Amino acid sequence: MSQVYVNEKSGVDSTESKGTEASPYQTPAYALFVQTDAKVFVYKQVEDSAEFAYAEISASALKKAKKGAEGIKKKAEKQAILEEQQKKKDAENAQKFAELDLIKIVEDESLPQAKKIKLRSIQENVDSRVCVQGWVHRLRLQKGLAFITLRDGTGFIQAVLTGDLAKARSTQELTIESTVIIKGVINKLPEGKSAPGGVELKADFYKVVGLAPGGEEAFTNKVQEGADPSLLLDQRHLTLRGETLSAVMKVRAALLRSVRRFYEEEGLLEVTPPCMVQNQVEGGSTLFKMDYYGEEAFLTQSSQLYLETCLPALGDVFCVQESFRAEKSHTRRHLSEYTHIEAELGFLEFPDLLDHLERLLTKVVQYVVEDPVTGPLVKQLNPNFEVPKMPFMRMEYIHALDWLNEHGIPNEEGEKFKFGDDIAEAAERRMTDEIGLPMFLIRFPAEIKSFYMQRCPDDKRVTESVDVLMPNVGEITGGSMRIYDNQEMIDAIKRENLDLDSYTFLTDQRKYGTCPHGGYGIGTERILAWLCDRFTVRDCSLYPRFTGRCKP
Ligand code: 4AD
Repeated sequence: MSQVYVNEKSGVDSTESKGTEASPYQTPAYALFVQTDAKVFVYKQVEDSAEFAYAEISASALKKAKKGAEGIKKKAEKQAILEEQQKKKDAENAQKFAELDLIKIVEDESLPQAKKIKLRSIQENVDSRVCVQGWVHRLRLQKGLAFITLRDGTGFIQAVLTGDLAKARSTQELTIESTVIIKGVINKLPEGKSAPGGVELKADFYKVVGLAPGGEEAFTNKVQEGADPSLLLDQRHLTLRGETLSAVMKVRAALLRSVRRFYEEEGLLEVTPPCMVQNQVEGGSTLFKMDYYGEEAFLTQSSQLYLETCLPALGDVFCVQESFRAEKSHTRRHLSEYTHIEAELGFLEFPDLLDHLERLLTKVVQYVVEDPVTGPLVKQLNPNFEVPKMPFMRMEYIHALDWLNEHGIPNEEGEKFKFGDDIAEAAERRMTDEIGLPMFLIRFPAEIKSFYMQRCPDDKRVTESVDVLMPNVGEITGGSMRIYDNQEMIDAIKRENLDLDSYTFLTDQRKYGTCPHGGYGIGTERILAWLCDRFTVRDCSLYPRFTGRCKP
């Protein structure tokens, strides 16, 4: 009977081992799988000694090893069958692809010249031969047919590939998110069939520009709906291609366009204040500090103070500028960087400011929903959205406290609200959601608002200030009239313990011809969260920045 050797430590279970003393296997089961009837010797400690040596396997270990060997045999047989099947499949595929490789996609030069178009203009090109270029958004392969939903950022079209175009190897191997150029005629779809825009592109030629990976690396494996939000944020560059996020970004662009249109109509001039500054506007706790050639500087919290200085030179002004807040809290409405729409208007009274804001919010939203492209996108994202009607509900802070107390909503200490309490996010949200309408919350106490706010002439405890509150989001806008008496402003700066010298540009504006004026700031992502019904402002920013996230 032949002999086979096993050493648990130095042995290897593979065809490279010989099963000898010099080249043992690792397990008795594998040894018996290779040499079924051999006598098994195992390397083990000699009884009553510290030495190791080969000795014949015990009866019980042999029984176990035989069972193990059976298992390995079955597994190996199964593996062999699978390998055989794969080989057959590969051979078939090779045969199929060899045939498919014979199919060459060649453009028919006798066809009319294809006009290069973007997908936003498919309707104007029905019945024409066009050339479209974009990404494979969806793909369906059927026997003899291929349906590609093409996306180019401006729209979608369904292309149908038939005959050789459908059969070709490049079509069989095509993947989602590959880029292609397709030529063909746009046809109106008959009743009963549906595709984007009610049209279909009957392709007569196509070419792959960049093939995206399939298998493990496939796009659909990278970006899965409902995946962990933080994983999706890591893949933001890919998630942006999805229908929801790209729709929000398109509405965002339309919103900013509409804001500019409104300001044009109202005669406000656009300016671009700096982002690197050396003064605070909204308190020291949310300042992003930076080293500016050895001096302390900050990323701007608000462009308001700069806008104020523009009034004498340029009249009413606005800006669309990034603002930065080192917010420590993780809330669904706070970002570290957000796009701040700010305006400043001169020679006006508090009621004028409120009327202006009301016009802005209704008109801008109206322009967005009336837009033939973005209107349907808002409907897709927020089917129940209605443009708010003027006048907005106006509620004084002091009456809001009564409302909150009557509705059993407590302050941050869990007690009844009293004058001077901040209406924090949770309480504010409960109130806006309950009321369910846009509202102006006005006349906040001076001590809970910013240093620059003008006091009300009839009650010096409160300021000419406004927060615009929207259902589901809460505050989307904060604004006020500004202190315009120079001494009063100097006192306010000192009271806030700010360095007066850093604010000369602000006090000079009061010194060299002052005027009553006011303004506001709108959080672009917040107004979008309301308009597009998004759970968080993070869904309304291209690459959101918040605590712990500054990439990609
Ligand atoms: O109420 P805030 O802090 O007011 C100002 O900055 C004024 N200086 C603006 C002005 O009068 N020119 O901010 C204004 C708006 C808020 O209503 C909110 O919509 C948004 O900016 N906002 C934020 N958005 C996202 N993330 C944050 N961390 C935000 N902080 C404020």
